[in-house]
Amino acid sequence: MTTPEPADRILARASLAEGNPTGWFEQLYTAAARGEAEVPWTRGEPNADLAARVRPGEGRRALVVGCALGDDAELLSAHGWAVTGFDVAPTAVEAARARFPESEVDYVVADLLNPPGEWAHAFDLVVEIINIQAMPREFRPAAVQSLASFLAPGGTAIVSEVAEENVDMTHWQGPPWPFSRTDVESVAQHGVRLVSLETIRDGARYWATFTR
Ligand SMILES: C[S@@+](CC[C@H](N)C(=O)[O-])C[C@H]1O[C@@H](n2cnc3c(N)ncnc32)[C@H](O)[C@@H]1O
Repeated sequence: MTTPEPADRILARASLAEGNPTGWFEQLYTAAARGEAEVPWTRGEPNADLAARVRPGEGRRALVVGCALGDDAELLSAHGWAVTGFDVAPTAVEAARARFPESEVDYVVADLLNPPGEWAHAFDLVVEIINIQAMPREFRPAAVQSLASFLAPGGTAIVSEVAEENVDMTHWQGPPWPFSRTDVESVAQHGVRLVSLETIRDGARYWATFTR
């Protein structure tokens, strides 16, 4: 007997076959809301790597890319950041607002591949954790360019993705599409420079920081 394929993989395959890199996220969140699927990355708590490294925001602006159900955005808000969290899936954004009705986070539906122009150079902290790797590689340069554009002078961008160097890529089928070190370093563009790049979780993920 074979194990049934999880809903996220079935939806992703169909969406990608239609040339749509992100449509399956909304489909997955709505299926989960109906109790018909699980969203594998939702934990009900903030990312532990981010929680271990978060610094006081003192009112500065933070942007959480692919904020999903809001846990990382709320973590930063609790540490004094003025947070905008965005996700391409409207159902995720609605769920985040519903989970945290008293929240000071500005939850927004937006696409990293076509972000609002007013976000350019606007954020003192930009957090990108395992979102860009969830889109096929051909979308990576545009996504990375958007990500770099958000960072304000003197700010910090955090980028954490699955590390390709520790994955057997022979028969690998995304999502996700892991990052190489060169992929991570490509965030250093248009005035953004790499500050640190390490592996975490026993080499499974990269954790990189950038500034402008
Ligand atoms: C793999 S999940 C990771 C969620 C969260 N960052 C975490 O660490 O658990 C990817 C998230 O990014 C969102 N997403 C994917 N592509 C996006 C895009 N182009 N723009 C904005 N959000 C996107 C998805 O809807 C989903 O919530």
